[in-house]
Parts: sequence; structure tokens; C-alpha cells
Amino acid sequence: MIRTVATTPYTDQKPGTSGLRKKATVFQQPNYAENFVQAVFDVVEDKAGATLVIGGDGRFLNREVIQVAIRMAAANGFGRVVVGRGGILSTPAASHMIRKRGAIGGLILSASHNPGGPTEDFGIKYNIANGGPAPEKVTNGILARTLDIDRWLTVDADDIDLDADGVVEVGGMPVEVVDPVGDYAALMETLFDFDAIRAARLTMAFDAMSAVTGPYATEILEGRLGFAKGTVRNGTPLPDFGGHHPDPNLVHAHELYETMMAADAPDFGAASDGDGDRNLIIGRHRFVTPSDSLAMLAANAHLAKGYTGGLKGIARSMPTSAAADRVAEALGIPAFETPTGWKFFGNLLDAGMATICGEESAGTGSDHVREKDGLWAVLLWLNILAVRGESVDAIARDHWAKYGRNYYARHDYEGVESDKADALMAALRGSLATLPGTRFGDLVVEAADDFAYTDPTDGSVSRNQGVRVLFEGGSRVVFRLSGTGTSGATLRVYLERYEPAGGDLDRETGDMLADIVAAADAIAGIVEHTGRTAPDVVT
Ligand code: G6P
Ligand code: ZN
Repeated sequence: MIRTVATTPYTDQKPGTSGLRKKATVFQQPNYAENFVQAVFDVVEDKAGATLVIGGDGRFLNREVIQVAIRMAAANGFGRVVVGRGGILSTPAASHMIRKRGAIGGLILSASHNPGGPTEDFGIKYNIANGGPAPEKVTNGILARTLDIDRWLTVDADDIDLDADGVVEVGGMPVEVVDPVGDYAALMETLFDFDAIRAARLTMAFDAMSAVTGPYATEILEGRLGFAKGTVRNGTPLPDFGGHHPDPNLVHAHELYETMMAADAPDFGAASDGDGDRNLIIGRHRFVTPSDSLAMLAANAHLAKGYTGGLKGIARSMPTSAAADRVAEALGIPAFETPTGWKFFGNLLDAGMATICGEESAGTGSDHVREKDGLWAVLLWLNILAVRGESVDAIARDHWAKYGRNYYARHDYEGVESDKADALMAALRGSLATLPGTRFGDLVVEAADDFAYTDPTDGSVSRNQGVRVLFEGGSRVVFRLSGTGTSGATLRVYLERYEPAGGDLDRETGDMLADIVAAADAIAGIVEHTGRTAPDVVT
């Protein structure tokens, strides 16, 4: 029954920060998706008889690639495929499903927060048995395999009905179509006090951005927690996300922002991205940066039943502000600084060294799964609001009064020509040795380096993870190129200024960062290298 299809390699299938992401038209080339899926399957050891989870964020090509992958899984000897109804599984729900089913891994079909549709992005990511993104040694193996692949395996079988729960056979392999929401919602009920949240009678707006969190948020927020109908906006996943960019930041979720700044704003506002792993948190009249959200969640996590025993450690990616480090210090627990990418947290979580992790790119999560989890962050915030009986604004002010405030912003320069972006980074790296001691206005460089990380659990080293320039007094600028784009280069400039407790805690972020922005341009020559005088996106 197994059919072998001859193929030739594509040379552009290197997995990025989070799997293989390309324009949908690239994936539609003959054998393109099949080559990559086969390369993954060739690298997975012990797959005979094992369970594979498959699901995606519902974007254009989701259903087609799922049907292809199911036939290929049967031909490659997997014992069972578990797939979300409608082809839907949010990234955190897929992570949970892999763990709960004892699966060997999973294919998550998503390009996360990138737009979807026939002319937009698609992606395939492989997660391993712990539920987390494949680490670099696995993705390097996949890349190597894509470069010498000469065949892929399939079975001759019809498409299955993805919309009907139950078990069907494909090439002799059982395929189970399951409710994508139920197990995940049940997990959330073990972590958070749903009764307390319900009793607090908070009002809320949640923007699912026509992406995967719609069904999850509707079931959990409106169904189980009793928030009013209509609390979830844009709650139906659409193949093109309604033409919107499903990235929950102040630019793409500006309608939510306007709702939350209005005179009649609800108590709490949140949004999630294409595949449900990111979160945006906006209290009534108070935006919370992702870096601050991580710190505030860590400081208050013990108020939720899943974390009453306290945290083992807090991990953040290097460009994320140091706000969480101060919480770790106060709690007397370790703080870890990892490269960008959730995959670097997996080992720390598996080893029980960290409980909560977060990134400036709007990702927060814990050891309940091995992905960041947008709705988890929303529910932890709701649990904290319910227990403390205070507003987001009051909690933020109280936090800063105790720990000081890390004013923070990220400036993105998108669609820069790759050679210009590379030249900028190369020049920056070349200037590292001479930067210390240099003065930019009132700022004096204390240290500068190219961030490298040694994983404390296995000793693996990841180099060239971004240039850090640290100023005397705790301010900082970080430069790195995005690893998730699909065209050109995106330069990310991360700006941070620490204001200690008792200092200027209630100022506009832009004012507080102005001198660091000027220093960043002087240090990196952004205008000179890119011709850009202003960032495209400020978050
Ligand atoms: C994905 C990963 C995140 C990471 C982000 C960085 O969303 O899942 O863990 O923080 O990419 O994206 P960038 O575009 O900055 O490489
Ligand atoms: Zn995402």
C-alpha cells in the first residue's frame, strides 16, 4: 500500500526561530510540503507504532497539508494520528495534547502571528515528545535531511472528514479526530480558580483576531467563566484571519487598545495571535508591556491554585526586560536569560529549574505545557485580579513602587534588504571591543557583547544571539535580526531603561527612552545602513 514518490531537494527549508515559514505559494510548489514533512519523519526515531498529533491555526492550506501529512504518517509507520476537529489545534493545546496522549511529537501548521491567505504565510513546525518545539539538534537534522531527500512516502487513501469526531483508518492506521478545546479547557481548570473569577464579576474584551483562539476563548471565557456574550470578538477562525495581521500588539490590535482607553472601558482587555501562543494584556486605561506582564504574573502567581507552592525559577529571553529578574531576586529563586525562541525554555522546564517563562514578543507560559500560552496568561491575570480585587493599573503601580520600573519598547524596521541588515549587524559586531567607555549624550557604555548562551542542563552553546550594549545605571539597547520573517530582514531594536523604586515611575515611555533611541542610532548607524529614519512598528 505504501507508495514512494521521487523528489528532489529544495534548498530553502531551514527551520527558523519557530519552524519552517514561507509564503503559501512556496508551500504550493510540487513536493514542497511533502519534502519537509518527510524530512521530519526521517529524523524522528522510534516512530513505529507511535502517536503523532496534528493540528493548526486554520489558516489557508491548513486542511490540505493535514490530509497530506496524515497519509504520509500512515506510510511512515506511525501507529496513530490524533488531529483536532476542523484541523484546529492552538499551539499550546497541541503541546498539551502531545503530553497527555504520550505522543512522540506533533506537527503544528501555523505561521503564528504572520498574516494568512493565498498570498500570505504558511508554516510547519515539529514539536517533540515533551510538547515543546524541536531543539536545534533536531532542526539541524531536519535541515540536513531536506538537502539530500530523494523520496517521500504516502499511501493511496481518500481525505478524511476532519469535521466529524471519531476514529477512521487511513492506510491501516487509526486517525482520531478530537475536540480541540476540551482537554485544554480542563487543564486550565486545574490551574486557576474559575469560581473566584466568576464571582469577581469582571468585565472584559478579548480579541481572538479571527484566529485559532476563538473557539477556546468562547468556551472558556463565555462558557465556563460566565463572561457576557460578545466578550470574545473576532471569534471565528478564518483562513485569511479576515485580512488582518494576527499579531497582538498595539498596532495590529489597535481597536482593542481604543476600547481599553475609552471612558467606558471594561476592566480587562486581551488578545492572542494566529496560533494562540501570544498574548496582549491591556487593563482599563493601562497597557502592560509583555516584559512587565511576565514580572507581574511571576510576582503574583502564588495566588492561583496551580502555583500556590511557589515558583522554582523564572526564565526570560535576553531581549526581554530585566523586570522579571528583580522578582526572582525578591523571591530568592534563580533567573535565567536565554536566547530568543521558546525552544530554549524547554530544557529548563523539563529539568524543573524554571516554572514561569516569558518573552518580550508577547509570549508567557509555564511548565503546564512546553509552549507559550496566550489564554493561560489571560486566565492567570484574571485569577490575580479576582483574588486581589484591584485593577490592572493599581497592580502595575504597586509592582513598580516595590521593584522599580523597566521602561521598555521595541522598534522594528521591517522589509530591510537582507544585505544591508547583515552589514549593519556585522559593523556592530566589529565595534564591540571599542564601545565600552564611549559616551552617547549622558549615556556611557559599560559593556557590549554578542549574546551567547550555555544551556545549564546539557551544556549546549548557542552563539550570535544578538548584540547587547549595556549602559552605566542599568539602561540597555539590544540589536538582533528577526528569525521569523518570510521576506527581507527585520531589524529589531530593544530599548530599556531602569528607574528604581522611588524614582520617576509614572512617565511616558517614549520620553524616558528618547536618549537611548538616539544612542541606538549612533551606535548601529540605522539611518546610514537602512535609509530608514523611523521604525515601522513600535511595541
Ligand atoms: C516566535 C517564537 C518566540 C520568539 C519569536 C521571536 O514567536 O515562538 O519564542 O520570541 O518567534 O521572533 P523574531 O521574529 O524576533 O525572531
Ligand atoms: Zn504564535
